[in-house]
Parts: sequence; structure tokens; C-alpha cells
Amino acid sequence: MTHVVTEQCVHCKFAECVTYCPVACFREADTFLVIEPEECIDCGNCVEACPADAIYPEAELPPDLQPSLEWNARLAPGLPLATSRVEPLPDGEAWRGRPGKWHTLPPDRAPGSL
Ligand code: F3S
Repeated sequence: MTHVVTEQCVHCKFAECVTYCPVACFREADTFLVIEPEECIDCGNCVEACPADAIYPEAELPPDLQPSLEWNARLAPGLPLATSRVEPLPDGEAWRGRPGKWHTLPPDRAPGSL
């Protein structure tokens, strides 16, 4: 099992989660982070840290966020390690909680099942 980042991270990337991860399993894209599922140890520290409520345990993903599993697993291996130097996006607050953020991504960066 793993924890997964969902679309609520997109365009927010608040980056609070990174410093709470004991195994450095976050990977950084331009407008969001994902979790490398092969490295996540399911500690759950990141869940409370995220101001956007963007992170879920795999077993608790709501139906509409199920594409997150494929999204994290496919993108993470090709992305660089997210470090504590990740800068939150300047307009992240304006995007917090908005629906449909996956649809704003280019097809190769969006979940395959959208
Ligand atoms: Fe994204 Fe939340 Fe981390 S918005 S970068 S999952 S703190």
C-alpha cells in the first residue's frame, strides 16, 4: 500500500508534505508533486501536513480520485526528487479546493483514465 497525491495538489504545490516524509518519496513536476509508490512506507505524516488535503492513503481514496493511483505510479519514476527547497506556487491559494484541476494539465501529465 501507498499514500497518493490527488488533483488537489495541482497548481497549489504547497510543499509542506516534503519535510514530513522520512523516506524522501515525493517527486516534483512543474505544478504538482506525486509520491513514488515503490518508496512510500505508508507512515501518513504527509496527510496532516498538506493544507490542500491533497494526500490520501490508497485504501481511502474516494471513487472520483481513483485515477490518482495510476497518475502517481506512472509519473513519479520520471520526475526529480522533491526536496525541502521546493517553492510553493505563487497563486496556489487561488487554486486551493477548485474542482477539475487534472483537466488543466497537458495529456502526458494528466491521469490516463480522464
Ligand atoms: Fe501538494 Fe499538499 Fe504537498 S498541495 S505539494 S501535496 S503539501
